[in-house]
Amino acid sequence: MCGIVGYVGGKDAVPVLFEGLQRLEYRGYDSAGVAVITRGDLKVHKRAGRVDGLIATAPKRLRGSVGIGHTRWATHGKPTDANAHPHVDSAHAIAVVHNGIIENALELRATVLADAVFTSETDTEVLAHLIAAQPEKELEEAVRAALLLVEGAYGIAVIDLRQPDRIVVARNGSPVLLGIGKGEHFVASDASALVRHTDQVVYLDDREMAVLEADGFRTFTLDAEPTEKRPTTAPVSKTAYDKAGHADYMHKEIHEQPVAVERALSGRLNRRFATAHLGGIELTPRDVLALRRIKVLGCGSAFYAGLAGACLIESLTRIPADAETASEFRYRNPVIEPATLYIAISQSGETFDTLAAVQEIKRKGGSVLGVVNTPGSTVARECGSGIYLHAGPEVSVTSTKTFTSTVVAFALLALHLGRIRDVGPADGGRLVRALEALPGQIAEILAGEDAIAETAKSLAAASSAFYVGRVRGYHVALEGAQKLKEISYIHAEAYPAAELKHGPLALVSESIPTVVIVPDDHMLDKNMATVAEIRARSGPVVVVTNSPLSVPGVDATLSVPTTEPELQPILLGIPLQLLAYHAALALGRDIDKPRNLAKSVTVE
Ligand code: G6P
Repeated sequence: MCGIVGYVGGKDAVPVLFEGLQRLEYRGYDSAGVAVITRGDLKVHKRAGRVDGLIATAPKRLRGSVGIGHTRWATHGKPTDANAHPHVDSAHAIAVVHNGIIENALELRATVLADAVFTSETDTEVLAHLIAAQPEKELEEAVRAALLLVEGAYGIAVIDLRQPDRIVVARNGSPVLLGIGKGEHFVASDASALVRHTDQVVYLDDREMAVLEADGFRTFTLDAEPTEKRPTTAPVSKTAYDKAGHADYMHKEIHEQPVAVERALSGRLNRRFATAHLGGIELTPRDVLALRRIKVLGCGSAFYAGLAGACLIESLTRIPADAETASEFRYRNPVIEPATLYIAISQSGETFDTLAAVQEIKRKGGSVLGVVNTPGSTVARECGSGIYLHAGPEVSVTSTKTFTSTVVAFALLALHLGRIRDVGPADGGRLVRALEALPGQIAEILAGEDAIAETAKSLAAASSAFYVGRVRGYHVALEGAQKLKEISYIHAEAYPAAELKHGPLALVSESIPTVVIVPDDHMLDKNMATVAEIRARSGPVVVVTNSPLSVPGVDATLSVPTTEPELQPILLGIPLQLLAYHAALALGRDIDKPRNLAKSVTVE
């Protein structure tokens, strides 16, 4: 979703902004732009479409020592040149980039800004006019006064022709961080934008502002109270943003899974006591014994990983556990119980609905544990305690390695909680050994990519597909269908296998393939019956299984190694990522940047 980058210092800002925008592309966007101040002139260059197009059409003499840039993901108004950021005031002196939504924009347009001439349909332009309406004030004061009038979420960066030595930034609900350099300063919505320039960052808190100049920065609250901020080291590695020989990030990230899982497990397995040790969890054994329920929250793939995670927890701890989408949870006025452990999952740590759910739980006296990939992110900081995935940055919009690592993190948590409650040392040891074997087993599945790619060709020819499974297999089916629809645009729906005959079977035919998840467990026979049901209607079937038995009459079987039943979803999910990847590849899709989707959804 929208990205911000800004620069003030001795260099030309334009290349810094362009490179930052390219690094933010993965968040998903549909237009982009920059504004720089050069020799008494505010120059804005913005357009609908990709950053490459923006760079290719940039005027030759676009340069400046201060500038801001933006990638926009349309919310208010279509993705047009006019609606792209930065937005300027009528005098063309102030330029603003903004992530988030100004909720009272229409009201402000009709009242305090009734005389202003608007050139876009965006809520952001309101900010430019509001700031310009205070010409007697210093820029930071004018921005502060404007922000006191607006309702909603924002991360903003502002430059002003009259004070060309600074950028003013503010945050309320949308991430903003400052990059600290020598004789230069940066602003970004995401540390990845600054990876080539500095790893020293300052995260702004909600209702906090900053003034950045070449030689320093100041922070203060929206009430003008100064705040003390110390730079920390951003956890971004330069190599995470290289494709390392892969055609795209999704392929790279799929293949990083053995290493990502190894990192999720590293230092956390305790063979002696046949348990898992998780340093970021502050629950005492007594707290664990007092737990009556576990509630897992997340959005998209994080929610699906949460379903698998809740199932793992319930089976190993015998504590009732379930997962719900964070958006539904926060709006249904949920009962918050003291004996419930709430767990929020977020790869980015910035998903608005997940963050809002965490805040709602905390407001009602509950405590939340975070399962997060991005260190220092808002959800991680808001939760205070939790489990980091250590999967490294995930750049492709669609989640692969972080889905797998999240389920692994839940396996560790379930083992940890289970060993305090219901799981004996023999059972614990069985799971520790199985967890240790996962990286090698995932590598084995990835080595079979060519066969999976072959199967994907038949899927690519379909316009619709079903994914079905039972219990653990159902969670795998949900994520598999999500992958296919996200990146190939083939319509894909997941059902619990037994639900087929309650509706979807009406659609099963020669032209609609079904992917059936068949774990080698006590429901093997039932899953075989599901396959027979589909075959009887001439539906093509792809089976994903760890059973040594061959399922008769199917079009393709994708086999994965055997593991303990609780961990099967982790391995069964991997071929589905490759299946979706190769179907999308065969269809020539823009795999890392699927249409209309964003990596990090920082608005409602
Ligand atoms: C977006 C992404 C999904 C992701 C979801 C939750 O929709 O496209 O891949 O699963 O957000 O993101 P989070 O960062 O909270 O895990």
